[in-house]
Amino acid sequence: MKQVIVFGSLNMDLTIRCERMPQQGETVEGSNFLNNPGGKGGNQAVAAAKFGAPTKMIACVGQDVFGRKLLEVLQGYRVDCGEIKVSETGQTGVAIITCHEGDNRIILSPGTNHELKTADVKEVLSRIAAPGDIFMTQYECEQNTVLASLEYAKELHMYTIFNPAPAKIIPEKYYPFIDLLVVNQTEAEYQTGIFPQEEESCRQAIESMQRMGAKQVIITLGSRGSIFNSGESLYSVPAERVEVVDTTAAGDTFIGVLAACLSEGRELEESVRYATKAAALTIMRYGAQQAIPYRDEVVQI
Ligand code: RIB
Repeated sequence: MKQVIVFGSLNMDLTIRCERMPQQGETVEGSNFLNNPGGKGGNQAVAAAKFGAPTKMIACVGQDVFGRKLLEVLQGYRVDCGEIKVSETGQTGVAIITCHEGDNRIILSPGTNHELKTADVKEVLSRIAAPGDIFMTQYECEQNTVLASLEYAKELHMYTIFNPAPAKIIPEKYYPFIDLLVVNQTEAEYQTGIFPQEEESCRQAIESMQRMGAKQVIITLGSRGSIFNSGESLYSVPAERVEVVDTTAAGDTFIGVLAACLSEGRELEESVRYATKAAALTIMRYGAQQAIPYRDEVVQI
């Protein structure tokens, strides 16, 4: 089994539920306040580790109460935290999340997530990565570092998975360093100008990202599942029908479990099926890392 190495963000999520979103200048009463570990990078690492993949995280937290808690929780899920830097001066990333009718809105303070630079990530990868290992990253860390780390991971003959979230453009010259690009509809539109909805627009968006150099592309379509290419053909995997409690970390679960399955040598289609089931379990629960299921739960449904 190959290892999964995640370079990404760690945030403390401060989540609160409300019956309706406040208007500008208005206060509404909420409920179910939750202070829970999140961050796209951390969530993806936890999803891979809970599914059983040997998982290492490259990240940075502050020397504060949130940073300590994030490390403790990650270690509890067996994510190797040996390469996580603790900044002496910066503040740990924080996400303020409001949940309303199962969906969420997030405001992010990246804090120490922006501290790692290209040289830091390269130095770690040069020591710990082996050819064929999976490298996975997102856009919550410093953009140039993320892009340069993809390029370097490819130089080391790793298999690269990129989730450009929150949505920001990927400069075209970096596409050839992406083995598997995983985007939701908004992120796909950002990259291509096409909002993928039905099969034809999905095909056009996928082909556009492939022409720029991404080897394989998955578009996640929320409650409609996902669509991806394998060679010339398109495949769809429908979402599981479940009761939505909170969608936070559903996309991260999908990507983390996908990486774990690929690290076991599974085909993409089978990996997407497991990832879809895992994401369904996550949205049935409240919170981020705590909502992500273990392997046993995923294989049972
Ligand atoms: O993808 C969900 C994550 O996005 C949350 O855990 C939050 O930290 C934000 O980064």
